[in-house]
Amino acid sequence: MPLLTIETTCDETAAAVITRSRDVLSSVVASQDELHARWRGVVPEVASRAHLERIIPVIDEAMSKAGVSKASLEAVAVAVRPGLVGSLLVGLSAAKGIAAALNIPIVGYDHIAAHLYACRLAYGEAMIYPCVGLVASGGHTSLFHVRSPLELERLGGTIDDAAGEAFDKAASLLGLGYPGGPQIEKAAVGGNPKAYRLPRPLAKERDRMDMSFSGLKTALRYLVRPPNALSDTPPPVGQRLADLAASFQQAAIDSILTKVELALARTGCRALAIGGGVAANTLLRESIERLGQKHGVKVFVPPRSLCTDNAAMGAIAWERLERGQNDGLELDVFPGTDRSAAHRK
Ligand code: KG4
Ligand code: ZN
Repeated sequence: MPLLTIETTCDETAAAVITRSRDVLSSVVASQDELHARWRGVVPEVASRAHLERIIPVIDEAMSKAGVSKASLEAVAVAVRPGLVGSLLVGLSAAKGIAAALNIPIVGYDHIAAHLYACRLAYGEAMIYPCVGLVASGGHTSLFHVRSPLELERLGGTIDDAAGEAFDKAASLLGLGYPGGPQIEKAAVGGNPKAYRLPRPLAKERDRMDMSFSGLKTALRYLVRPPNALSDTPPPVGQRLADLAASFQQAAIDSILTKVELALARTGCRALAIGGGVAANTLLRESIERLGQKHGVKVFVPPRSLCTDNAAMGAIAWERLERGQNDGLELDVFPGTDRSAAHRK
């Protein structure tokens, strides 16, 4: 009997129906991008209100696309951390309502671990543990030693902004739309990634697997509009825009790659998995493949649809259900950041 998974950690309302053998019968994602575009970033209150309106229709659509009735569900799973508290609570409340009404188990799962589980979904039994896991998204950028789907040890990651957040702000500085990652990627086509010298903070610090993106944002800000420039300086266009976008993209990806290499060397892992919205970036995907070849490491890169937020990656909840775990109606949300937890269950 299948599992219903629910994802509302940030600004995507998503639900999926997944069998025990990890076949995704349906996966529905309602993006809120158009609601947040005018602020060029996610507005938490707007996000939770939109989840509230969409959660039931999204669940119903997932059920009908899967062709299963609610009565035939084995369990319900919901992403309970990390994320925006108001958003998380909407998903949790919906999941609890279903669990109570159908008298079935409810399990919470970790959104970050789920991003990496997208690789297990895409590659099935070919997925290798232990591996180094890179999660780069709008809210998180971390490296993990992934011993099994549920055992992640954080090795390092951003000490300030997430990589995706830097892409979003860079796009805003360049006069592009939201979300910024795909816009920067598009604008960078035909640009020279060496046109502007942008910082790769912490790159030379070989004893830490941390990264930083806020200085990169500031450096771009001063290239686009120097401190003494007029506040209504028009955004760059043409080749200058392409060169700025390409230089920014290269610097952000370089910062990540240096630390991925370090994590592979430190852990001795022969496998590398990536996930999160930034993992949809073509330059990152190609660079990771090359890095894998260079070091003789097997690389796992999920399809783009499994990189950005979705509920199919909630298939990770089967790992808990198979161990007989059931959180019951006491289940709560844990908004905190991914920096706080060394081990995640
Ligand atoms: O994983 P995700 O959908 O949501 C969070 O958990 O945060 O990631 C969204 C982030 C946004 O910051 C977006 O700009 C970035 O992923 N992103 C990209 C690309 N597609 C999405 N960044 C770089 N290149 C892309 N193609
Ligand atoms: Zn995410």
